[in-house]
Amino acid sequence: MSATSFTYVQRNRKMVFGPGVRNTLGAEVSELNAQKVFLIIDGGAIALRKSIEDLVGNKLVSTWTDVKQHVPVELAESARSAVTNSSADLVVCVGGGSSTGLAKAIALSHRIPIIAIPTTYAGSEQTTIYGLTGDRHKQTGSDAIVLPRVSLYDAELTVDLPISVTGASAFNALAHSVESLYATGCNPITTAIALEGIRAINLSLPLVMSSPKNIEARAQLLYGAAMSGISLGDTSAGFHHKICHVLGGAFGLVHADAHSVVLPHAVAFNAPVLPFEMNQLAHALDCRQDDVAGSLWDLAKRSGVPSSLAQLGLHRENLAEVATRAAAEIRTNPRNFDAASIELLLQGAFDGVRPLATN
Ligand SMILES: NC(=O)c1ccc[n+]([C@@H]2O[C@H](COP(=O)([O-])OP(=O)(O)OC[C@H]3O[C@@H](n4cnc5c(N)ncnc54)[C@H](O)[C@@H]3O)[C@@H](O)[C@H]2O)c1
Repeated sequence: MSATSFTYVQRNRKMVFGPGVRNTLGAEVSELNAQKVFLIIDGGAIALRKSIEDLVGNKLVSTWTDVKQHVPVELAESARSAVTNSSADLVVCVGGGSSTGLAKAIALSHRIPIIAIPTTYAGSEQTTIYGLTGDRHKQTGSDAIVLPRVSLYDAELTVDLPISVTGASAFNALAHSVESLYATGCNPITTAIALEGIRAINLSLPLVMSSPKNIEARAQLLYGAAMSGISLGDTSAGFHHKICHVLGGAFGLVHADAHSVVLPHAVAFNAPVLPFEMNQLAHALDCRQDDVAGSLWDLAKRSGVPSSLAQLGLHRENLAEVATRAAAEIRTNPRNFDAASIELLLQGAFDGVRPLATN
């Protein structure tokens, strides 16, 4: 990557941060000149339904609560029919990446904007990437219309996020920023944003895990997740993400849990050919340069997130198929790979062992 010659595309996005910013939802709807709002609200965030409906007011035409991970195509089609029937001209999604993912499927087909109110750390609201899953295959694509025009980051809405979801979701965010340091499309601006995200998550995650109602720490984690989402969206999903897409799309693993387990092992695989990026990561994570992968594994352990694929219900005999499928999906990677080398790293992830230092 050259620091003097690169292209950075500034996207059309508004991000509002602060406890209570959900209360500006009505004003944001008006600013987008929307008249008919289709609200998607995730099952876990359902306690927020009434208050969000009140904020939308009489522009609300429908509330949709059936949300599933990885956006099954049948679910997307049902929701799209409901949007057609309601003549909605705006989607508001409240919840995690699954809620945002369904909103994206609608924006893609109906060419209408999204306002996102994220309540996990998935960061999908900052990317132009959408995903749809059918026949055990998660198909991703990119389209500017699916990038929410407005994202309202209100940490007050995250204090009841179960701690098991919190830690894994934060690791999903970390995976975005870590991998964006060497993903196709990275440049000095995406790297600066990614490192900011990594620092914010590394500082706030332990605080949130020990004190889940700490709004300030939750706000810092949400900010780190937003930065990480930008870094993924403005670069691309690479090696680690493709492996996780196979684990989720073909084997039904929970998206964020898969990220928590695989990230240290994917980093360990690439570390030997990325001394510059490992140095950047070591500074952001405040650890030794030759032990970045191990430090991520330690952070995962301290945060109580899953650390082995066995724990997530995968079987050892699945590893070869995961590796073959992932090898077919991965376009480029800093280090040469094949199905056998991916299977080897997956064995470490399956057993949940701490990755070795590189030197
Ligand atoms: N396109 C992208 O750029 C991108 C980026 C990251 C993730 N994703 C996608 O997002 C999905 C995963 O997102 P996720 O990890 O946020 O999972 P999720 O949206 O499924 O949410 C995880 C859990 O948290 C619960 N939850 C959400 N908000 C809550 C709240 N306020 N209180 C209590 N519980 C709450 C949900 O009900 C769910 O059980 C995957 O499908 C993944 O592919 C897409």
